[in-house]
Amino acid sequence: MAPILQLFERKAYPKLVEDAATMRSIPIESLFVDQPDRSTTYSASAAGLTLDFSRQAVTDDILTHLVALATEAQLRDAFAALRQGSTVNATENRPALHTLLRSNSAPEGLPNEYAAVAETRRRMQDWSEHIRSGRHTGFSGQPITDVVNLGIGGSDLGPRLVNDALQVFDGKIDAHFVANVDPAALQDALLGLSPESTLFVVCSKSFGTEETITNARAARSWLLQAGAEASALGAHFLAITTDIQAAADMGIPEDHCLPLWDWVGGRYSLWSAIGLSCAISLGWHTFSELLAGAQQMDEHVEAAVPGQNLAVLMALLEVWNTNFLGADSHVVLPYCEGLGYLPEFLQQLTMESNGKRVDVLGRELKSDSAPMLWGAAGTMGQHSFHQLLHQGTRTFSADFILPLTTHTGMTEQHGRLVANCLAQSRAMTVGRTEQQCIDSLLARGAGEERAQALATHLAIPGNRPHSLITMDALTPRSLGALLALYEHRTYFSSLLWGINAFDQWGVELGKDISGSIYEVMQNTRPSVDLDTVTLKHIAAWRAANDR
Ligand code: F6P
Repeated sequence: MAPILQLFERKAYPKLVEDAATMRSIPIESLFVDQPDRSTTYSASAAGLTLDFSRQAVTDDILTHLVALATEAQLRDAFAALRQGSTVNATENRPALHTLLRSNSAPEGLPNEYAAVAETRRRMQDWSEHIRSGRHTGFSGQPITDVVNLGIGGSDLGPRLVNDALQVFDGKIDAHFVANVDPAALQDALLGLSPESTLFVVCSKSFGTEETITNARAARSWLLQAGAEASALGAHFLAITTDIQAAADMGIPEDHCLPLWDWVGGRYSLWSAIGLSCAISLGWHTFSELLAGAQQMDEHVEAAVPGQNLAVLMALLEVWNTNFLGADSHVVLPYCEGLGYLPEFLQQLTMESNGKRVDVLGRELKSDSAPMLWGAAGTMGQHSFHQLLHQGTRTFSADFILPLTTHTGMTEQHGRLVANCLAQSRAMTVGRTEQQCIDSLLARGAGEERAQALATHLAIPGNRPHSLITMDALTPRSLGALLALYEHRTYFSSLLWGINAFDQWGVELGKDISGSIYEVMQNTRPSVDLDTVTLKHIAAWRAANDR
């Protein structure tokens, strides 16, 4: 394995600092004067996706220095190590084998892991087909019509996104997703569902997550209140977990439990049985196509040279924008209704993976790690936060994601969506000068004084670095490839920063404190170690609830 180095310790670092200083005075748009075909040369394709990074603030020299950074960090070897099951998660002493979950053959040295994956895939397919055929029945003999996924974080966001994106591909059984411990989430999801024909898929790697276990218990009560015998509840539950015993303790029969392994990180687990709700609602063929798309991306990332490697390029651009050009957030703008949950999925993937303050060796980071990630499906954002993108004072980078066709058959209307996407990308590059604003106001009949006064309010600086990721259509394959691409970009960025992308210790403190506070609220623990603010609000909760 390559030595763990932080970004500033890399040989390529000083050159890139100089490059950034130069680039600050060069507008991205001006780069097209000498390189009119940037959109062709600064572009790479694989697995049905094309990355156009011509509107990033990069030149040939900068790309050479960035590629040197990738080579120095031995990203290629690191990817091979990931796929072969090396211990890439040092603090938890584990591999991260999400690529194995979509593989069709056993990597050397991992025959047992592969056999377990293949067997679980077979069981997923069986369950999917069994339920979709109507042969699996609930407590009163009714076939299952609705599946409710109970899970949070990685046990929710991936399946929720995929189900929403691919509904059109044979969404025969309705899938619903409940993550929040707020009882309103479960209540809303169950509204209109029949207990007799509803199946709950309890997804929890640990089977100890408060939100999921609380919702699973409430689901049991809902079924019991509807007249189900306790002995018949098993038919209404499947569980996906590493802790089969904990699931059995909740009354879920062992043959209704599908395994997960500690070498699958929660936010990388969509491809495992955590995707079962989707496999049931969308059908096995669609789910296996999703896996195939992801696998195609894995193959590309393993084989392609850095300058043509989508994941390497995206990681280099992330680091370039964040650490050299000072972007403090990254905006994801899918121009596709079906990708509405993509920003949320990527928030967990990138911020839980790379929101770190120390490197793998435990040394404090000398430069920033992951930027904040946010976004929304276009065009809605244009009528809310795009104002800040065009005229705000914050620096950011962005990814536009655009399927070039629509499944709806409404091609004319889809053309409007495409035009909006391309318009936003262009506006973020070229902006609008004060003089252009004055000229346009005068042409529309405004007086000279008003035109002068308004010009600074109307002007848009442009020069916002971003990429365009296009695909022919949103299909199970292109979606699988897209999500795998972001997974690998996340891993490569972590290597460039010298951090561990596969642990998430920062989430534990809140869980511990919440447990103690709840015990105090239930009077099962003294409140001596709590602070005055917390105690005041507990008292208010008691008063509001007559406790
Ligand atoms: O609290 C964070 C986290 O551990 C995520 O990493 C994970 O995806 C989520 O909670 C759910 O965990 P589990 O699948 O064990 O319920």
